Amino acid sequence: MPEPVVLEMQGAIARITVNNPPVNALCHAVRAGLLDCVRRADRDTGVDGIVIVCAGRTFIAGADISEFGKPPREPILHDVLAAIERASKPVVAAIHGTALGGGLELALCCHYRVATSDARIGLPEVKLGLLPGAGGTQRLPRVLGVEAALDAMLTGRMLDAPGVAERGDGAIDAVLDGSIADASVNWLRGRLAESLPLRRVRDMPVPGNADAAVFERFETRAARETRGQFAPRQIIACVRAATELDFDEGLKFERARFGECMQNPQSGAMRHLFFAEREAARIPDVPRDTPRRPINAAAVVGAGTMGAGIAMCFANAGIPVTLTDASSEALNRAVARIRDNYDRSAARGRLDTQTVERRMGLITAEAGLHVASRADLVVEAVYEDLELKKQIFAELARECRDDAILATNTSTLDVNQIAASTTTPERVLGLHFFSPANVMRLVEVVRGQTTANDVLATAMGLVRRLRKVGVVSGVCYGFIGNRMLEGYAREAGFLLLEGVSPERIDRVMRDFGFPMGPLQMGDLAGNDVGARVRAERRAAGELPEDPRYGRVHDRLAELGRHGQKSGKGLYRYGEDGRTPEPDPEVERLIREEAEALGVKPREVSDREILERCLLPLINEGLAILEEGIALRASDIDIVWVNGYGFPVYEGGPMYYAEQLGLGHVLERLRHYGRTLGNAFDYWTPAPLLEQLAAQRLALKDWTRD
Ligand code: 3HC
Repeated sequence: MPEPVVLEMQGAIARITVNNPPVNALCHAVRAGLLDCVRRADRDTGVDGIVIVCAGRTFIAGADISEFGKPPREPILHDVLAAIERASKPVVAAIHGTALGGGLELALCCHYRVATSDARIGLPEVKLGLLPGAGGTQRLPRVLGVEAALDAMLTGRMLDAPGVAERGDGAIDAVLDGSIADASVNWLRGRLAESLPLRRVRDMPVPGNADAAVFERFETRAARETRGQFAPRQIIACVRAATELDFDEGLKFERARFGECMQNPQSGAMRHLFFAEREAARIPDVPRDTPRRPINAAAVVGAGTMGAGIAMCFANAGIPVTLTDASSEALNRAVARIRDNYDRSAARGRLDTQTVERRMGLITAEAGLHVASRADLVVEAVYEDLELKKQIFAELARECRDDAILATNTSTLDVNQIAASTTTPERVLGLHFFSPANVMRLVEVVRGQTTANDVLATAMGLVRRLRKVGVVSGVCYGFIGNRMLEGYAREAGFLLLEGVSPERIDRVMRDFGFPMGPLQMGDLAGNDVGARVRAERRAAGELPEDPRYGRVHDRLAELGRHGQKSGKGLYRYGEDGRTPEPDPEVERLIREEAEALGVKPREVSDREILERCLLPLINEGLAILEEGIALRASDIDIVWVNGYGFPVYEGGPMYYAEQLGLGHVLERLRHYGRTLGNAFDYWTPAPLLEQLAAQRLALKDWTRD
């Protein structure tokens, strides 16, 4: 093992190189090595200045997250940073790649910061339910100002080094060309004469006058954008402390708040998701070095909302895409919708006009399936109709090059049957995007019985290139996400019949942390869609013979109450077409249906609402796991957090179940089976749940034999 930190002399400059692949995280060995090298260089009278640089692909990406929750080992990061800041000689942080979290905090303790033109900096701790705990909340506002610093810390967004350098406030002192390791040494040599007295960020005043109104504005924004999260409020309090307390007091304040965040269960959940997301990329029987097919051109078949959104995903990632449809009118509408979407982003300042034009330039719209012959990958996104999809795939297989990958965006249909309609089923798989496709991060990558390994590996790589998160799912009705949604929606519908108001059901689930409740979500997805799927499944004998099942929503669909898109669904929608309002007509309809079915109104507690919606979802997750539809429990968490708005700070349904205790989950399922009846097996625990609860095994320790 090479030393993780080495010191070499470059004339009178000591160059300290951190080499801890893959991302140079500040693990114990790196902290110890840095402290030792900085002290040695500082003591050495032959040293005039120090450069801290990193080997490999990036500057330090932060504290080592895998060490969190374990007993701290000295030297702690604070001591290392204090030694750097107190050095008697100028220290330069030479940044390439990304300087994140503790990495940026270390750089802010250096006396200068230089960077490559493609370097980025950021304090993403909020995404882990934490705050920057090594001085970031005290030092970043001193170089960027309160508002820019708060914005960076509350969103966790990275900032481009050249843009930061242009501000001229000392956050980044220079952008250098060439090898950063050499260029930074030369740069420091040119600065030595003017470097004393050393400039320390801690001694700088916080610029501007951040009054109470600024903090209130950020509080309001945090309450909206990161509702229910603990860390954002602590970040704001720390930055406020930076403006009110002297530096060392501010640092103490930050440290105490950091400890609180670390102890808060939210951080445990969010750290779980960090590793879960990376784990999702691993497919046990598909090695990481599986060759991938090049994807330089894509085609999307079907110019509806979904197709247009998927085309945008390719354009956003710089991949030329042809959108095709049988109807040229639909194509024109789709292109207009895409243009409108980009223009709105530009109007909000999120995109510049050049980027809009570049992306529009990557999108071609042309009628006829023959256009797919130019593509390396085709995504079919037509109407949910198995026969239609089979026809399209048979034709695509004839039109496309032999090595082109053929994907379906179906959310419910059998990918194996679709693949079987082609002569080359090994190149077929599902790419299930979530709506709106250009916004939602999740893609379920559906592996058919015959999908080739390199096709799967290419698809996973592509999803990453689209800056989304891919989760592998086996073939079953609804795949991972929509299959679990079924029990959630079913119980919401039953609760309506039992006399619970729609607003209350949705409110309880929003209070839990979902951005919207199940009934609002149904109105958004469209009641006609749900009713059509239910009718097909009922005809195929796939639904329980329970007259209550989907009853309210079927009636709404019959009445043309399709949801938000028709101005009324379970709710009615006011002027803006988006704000749900209770509708007495629907209340009456629900009462009539309940009477017809003989369902009596009951007293239902908020706890029951929450449990009745969540427990079936969790139980189905365990069944999915046992059947091998999901590769691991944490993949299910990634699906629900990224595709359905399950609160990040609960870590996803499987992590949440584990926090509740699997034994408790089992006991509550049985409780509802006893009290509500279990004629349709709604409350029958998944065998895996019984097994894990009996053996007191954690989900992550369970392996399929
Ligand atoms: N600690 C431990 N492991 C880390 C890590 C960290 N800070 N950052 C990344 N890794 C690991 C990943 O788990 C992954 O491991 P794997 O290969 O075994 O799955 C590997 O490094 C590569 O990571 P990615 O797959 O994410 O690589 P990318 O190239 O896509 O992205 C990155 C690189 C932008 C650095 C991204 O990894 C990232 O955002 N990392 C987290 C950065 C972060 O949150 N830093 C703050 C940490 S908390 C902190 O510093 C507290 C301080 O304020 C006191």
